[in-house]
Amino acid sequence: MGLVYFKRYRMELDFSDLPLPTPPLPVGYALEPWSDGLCRDHATAKFSSFQNEMDANVFPCLGRHDGCLHLMREITKRRSFVPEATWLIRYQAQGKRLPIATIQGLRLEGWGAVQNLGVHPEHRGRGLGAILLAEAAEGFRRAGLSRMHLEVTTDNNGAVRLYRRLGLRQANTLYKAAEVSGV
Ligand SMILES: CC(C)(COP(=O)(O)OP(=O)(O)OC[C@H]1O[C@@H](n2cnc3c(N)ncnc32)[C@H](O)[C@@H]1OP(=O)(O)O)[C@@H](O)C(=O)NCCC(=O)NCCS
Repeated sequence: MGLVYFKRYRMELDFSDLPLPTPPLPVGYALEPWSDGLCRDHATAKFSSFQNEMDANVFPCLGRHDGCLHLMREITKRRSFVPEATWLIRYQAQGKRLPIATIQGLRLEGWGAVQNLGVHPEHRGRGLGAILLAEAAEGFRRAGLSRMHLEVTTDNNGAVRLYRRLGLRQANTLYKAAEVSGV
């Protein structure tokens, strides 16, 4: 194990700027707002989205299903949790409604703080990430917030490109220390 510093951007969006464009939800997918009892489904979507991704090195809990469940419970119990900004996407196939994408929101120091946007690898590139971000922004707005931010690992090119395309701006650079095996 060795200590690695991951470079991350804080990216911000003021809601007085243009609203986030919301692509239409593709056929076969359904958006579900937060309700109690959805922790497990969010954790399943989170785990399948992050298990083989670089952020599972930055936040090792994202690389384990029980870690994702623990994280979901921890986020949703916080006083700063914003249910309006927390969404799940299900894929409906063969009579099942599989949880395949997730986003959660917190209220931190007057900002909406996006947590762990993730889309299952087989369902990427269909606009689901953009839809979840737009729904979270709308939820923060309904909760009385006027701006939101998130953090992204700078090497996560797809995510950084998506956020820039949606109008988020780089505010500053942070370093997150994490223990990584094989280093
Ligand atoms: C980042 C992420 C949420 C984007 O989700 P998505 O549903 O693919 O998002 P969209 O379809 O709205 O846009 C995806 C972008 O990736 C590109 N893309 C297309 N196919 C893709 C694929 N199979 N895999 C990854 N990205 C793809 C799209 O072209 C688009 O970028 P561009 O239009 O600027 O070229 C998703 O890749 C993911 O879950 N990654 C792993 C977890 C993660 O790193 N989350 C971000 C934490 S800050």
